[in-house]
Amino acid sequence: MTVLVPTMGSLHRGHQALIKRARALSKEVIVSIFVNPLQFENKEDLEKYPRSPQLDIELATLAGATEVWFPEYEDIYPGTIQTISAGPIGSILEGASRPAHFDGVLTVVNRLFEMVKPTHAVFGEKDFQQLFLIKNIAKKVEIVSVPTVRNGSGLALSSRNIRLSQIEQESAIIISKALSAAAQEKSVASAQRVLEQVLSEEKAFKKDYAVIIDEKNFSFATQESQKKRALVAGWINGIRLIDNMPMDSGAHA
Ligand code: PAF
Repeated sequence: MTVLVPTMGSLHRGHQALIKRARALSKEVIVSIFVNPLQFENKEDLEKYPRSPQLDIELATLAGATEVWFPEYEDIYPGTIQTISAGPIGSILEGASRPAHFDGVLTVVNRLFEMVKPTHAVFGEKDFQQLFLIKNIAKKVEIVSVPTVRNGSGLALSSRNIRLSQIEQESAIIISKALSAAAQEKSVASAQRVLEQVLSEEKAFKKDYAVIIDEKNFSFATQESQKKRALVAGWINGIRLIDNMPMDSGAHA
């Protein structure tokens, strides 16, 4: 049994939770570190993406990785490769703001699967739309998901948090605050209202979307949806942040 944990590096406790989960499944855990140009819509974002290879090796090994693999661009994209289209769900929400992002994610994940041939692969729930789309294309690999890891204030851990100042990190807490508040609501409509209302309290946060989706098919949730999840995305000082939470405790019929 080989478990792959695909990452773009700049590892933190969130990635370590994925690696620990992988290690609980198998003695062979490969962590790939590849900043995939295909999933960045602008060059600046790609260039600014944080990189810390030495620390990554340490953190991955400490969490239980048996191999930390840094593929070269040419290994992943040797001339012609099969590109994967994310389809209609790839162009809503995250995909609406980031055209071709999910095609890039699925293409690289498919290549990593082709090269490593893992039995299992572990991904975080934080990128929930990504997780949904990967589950859709994975034919021979079992996809295991791990809940989002948060800091003490509730902020979802992300490699991009490094770019937030202390004040901006405090502003960013509004996202998890809004999600937790929405999760307490009894109906989808009231959860939606609460999301919007709490997010509007933080002027530094520029909302992109705040929605409640049906986890089964990623459509907008109705009161009848079995599993509902609230998803939020936006920017603080130009830095894009996303987060989500299951509406387990509330928004039920
Ligand atoms: O979630 C990420 O870090 C990336 O999108 C992934 C899955 C490693 C593909 O580049």
